[in-house]
Order: sequence, then C-alpha cells, then structure tokens
Amino acid sequence: MRDWIYELTLKPLFFKLNPESAHNLSFKLLSIANSLPGLFKGIDNITSYKSTRLQTKVAGIHFSNPLGMAAGFDKTGELYPFLGQLGFGHVEVGTITGESQPGNPKPRIFRLEKEEVLINRMGFNNPGAENAFNTISRQKKTIIRGINAGKTKLVSPENAIDDYVKTFKILTPLADYGVINISSPNTPGLRGFQEKESFISLVNGIKKGLGGNFPLPMFVKLAPDLEISALEELLDIILDIKLDGVILTNTTINPSVLPNYSTLETGGISGRVLREKSTHFIRIAYKKLQKRIPIIGVGGIYDGESALEKIRAGANLIQIYTAYIYKGPFLPYKILEYLDNKMISEGIAGIDELVGSEN
Ligand SMILES: Cc1cc2nc3c(=O)[nH]c(=O)nc-3n(C[C@H](O)[C@H](O)[C@H](O)COP(=O)(O)O)c2cc1C
Repeated sequence: MRDWIYELTLKPLFFKLNPESAHNLSFKLLSIANSLPGLFKGIDNITSYKSTRLQTKVAGIHFSNPLGMAAGFDKTGELYPFLGQLGFGHVEVGTITGESQPGNPKPRIFRLEKEEVLINRMGFNNPGAENAFNTISRQKKTIIRGINAGKTKLVSPENAIDDYVKTFKILTPLADYGVINISSPNTPGLRGFQEKESFISLVNGIKKGLGGNFPLPMFVKLAPDLEISALEELLDIILDIKLDGVILTNTTINPSVLPNYSTLETGGISGRVLREKSTHFIRIAYKKLQKRIPIIGVGGIYDGESALEKIRAGANLIQIYTAYIYKGPFLPYKILEYLDNKMISEGIAGIDELVGSEN
C-alpha cells in the first residue's frame, strides 16, 4: 500500500524530469516539508519503523536503527531534520569541502531505469564548510549526523590536509562522526589518497591538524575499485593509524558491472549492480578487521534481503542512496521491518547478533 503512494504520485512526476531536476524538486518538497513541521507531524508513524531490537552502539555512538542515508543526498545539510522523520537512524551529510564549489557542468547525473542504476559525476557541488555550518547550526539535533569531508577541487593534493582540517574544525561541533572521503571518482586525484604513502600522510596530517587526536569518531570511505590486496593493506593501516571505522563502498567506475552497455556516461555507478562488489569488500574487511573497528556497508542495497546480506557479511551499519530514488520514502520502513521480522523469527534479541553471522 505504502509503495503505491510513491509509485502512483511522485515517482511518475520525478521520472519525467531529468535526474538532477527531479532531485532538485524532491529537495524543494522536502525543504518545504522541513519548514512546516506542523503539517507533517505524525508522518514518522508511517515512515519510521521502531524496534528496540534494531538499536545498536557503533564507535561509541547510539543509533536507533542501523540504516542511514548515504553521503551525496544531503550535500548541504538542509535535509537532515526531515530525513530523521523518514525513518533513518543517521544521515551522512556531504560531501562538504573546505571551500564552496559548483561541481561539474550539467548534465552530470544519469539514470539506467531498467537496472535501477544511477551514474553521477556531480563533482562535490556543495556550499563549503562555513555555509554548511550556518545551515546546520540552526537545526534541532535529532538522529545521528555524520559529516563527510572531501577535497575542494581547486586545492592541490599537497594542500589537501588543510582543506579537510578546515571542514572538520568548522563542522565537528555539529557532528557525531566524521568521514574522510577519498573515494569519489569525480574529483581529479582524490582516489590517489588510497595509495599507501599518500593515505598515511593525509590521515596523519588531518589528525595533527585537529590537535593530535580525532575529536570525534573518524571513518574513512573507500572505493570498490581497489585491488583486494590494496584493500587489505589499507585496512591494516587503518587499524594502525587508529581510525574508528571504514565505509565500504563508494560508487564504482568499472563498466563491467553493466556488461550490456557499449557506451556509458562517465561517472560513478551506483545501485543494484554494485551490490555484490560492495558485499565482497565487506566480507573481506570483516575477516581482516576481526571486529576491532566497525564497518558501514553501502552499495546496491534495495530491499530487506540485500540489507541483511550486508549485515551478515559484517556490516554494523548500512546506508542507501540510489534505491531511495527508485523505491521512494517508505523503503527505510520496509528494510527495517524485514530485519526486525528476521530477528523475531530467528529468536535473536538484537541486530548486533546478526553482524557477520554468515561466517
Ligand atoms: C548522485 C550521487 C551523489 C553522490 N555523492 C556522494 C558524495 O558527495 N560523497 C560520497 O561519499 N558519496 C557520494 N555518493 C555515493 C553514495 O554515498 C554511495 O556510496 C553509493 O551511491 C553506493 O550506494 P547506493 O548503491 O545505495 O547508491 C553519491 C552517489 C550518488 C548516486
């Protein structure tokens, strides 16, 4: 029943528009809804699934449920309050960069509707750390808020540390956790920070710039295009360097996930075709990390079963983006209801027991 509301009303409207206009329209609708909380009072009764079994503590933070909105949906921080009412346990705001920037020229986001895939080369369009602070600091804090930081395009790799530090210094007071994003494919050179030496100097530099210790739990978000040996090497470094968690994964630029296409737009591919690759990365990380730090699983989750797969593979928290566009605002409810029913039928008391349970 809930699905029909989206399928018959907003989805046809959104999908007639080009993806970026659809995103802007949904953004406007959500912003209006946000500014009229009285009108939407009670909406969370139909969008938010609540159960004590879903609660979890990750990196010392209490989450009311394991499902979050992945980075890139709320690039300005404006949607956070409303996303809290739509059933998410956390929102990862950003990517925010030190300076404001317009991102790449349009068109820069594309749909492959049959495959329920998006391809984007947005390029971190965002208001910059100071403007984001002004927006976010006016909001009431509800659910968990992560701040995902990236590098300003015009800042050279040599000066990247200062750019990340600027963002974290400004936004840390408003965040429960931070993310060092080095995996978006649309900022030239960014993924270069996944190379061992660059990674170590970037993370150590950020830590030093923030006073010698991370002032909040700090995660790093990696790409699914790494070689497995490079992933394993990075995971060892992540433990050594005392990061607090790893987000697996960002979008892929490997066209082999869409073998039936002879030409593809340039950009990061997300959605169902990413599911297996991302779960594979989580499985490897779970074995390597041995529960020492948590894993946040993202990539191709589109229903309860694909969410459960990520958790069973080892993800403590999960996130969605692309499926939210295709399936609409009742998806969090459906995913969480599925997970809860699974726990009930298996006699499991809490979501943590499911984490890594395939092993
Ligand atoms: C249009 C779009 C913009 C995105 N922007 C960001 C971003 O700014 N920062 C980031 O870390 N990830 C970004 N992502 C990646 C998502 O957070 C997520 O890792 C990826 O889409 C895989 O999840 P999904 O298959 O559920 O979409 C973006 C994804 C999409 C589709």
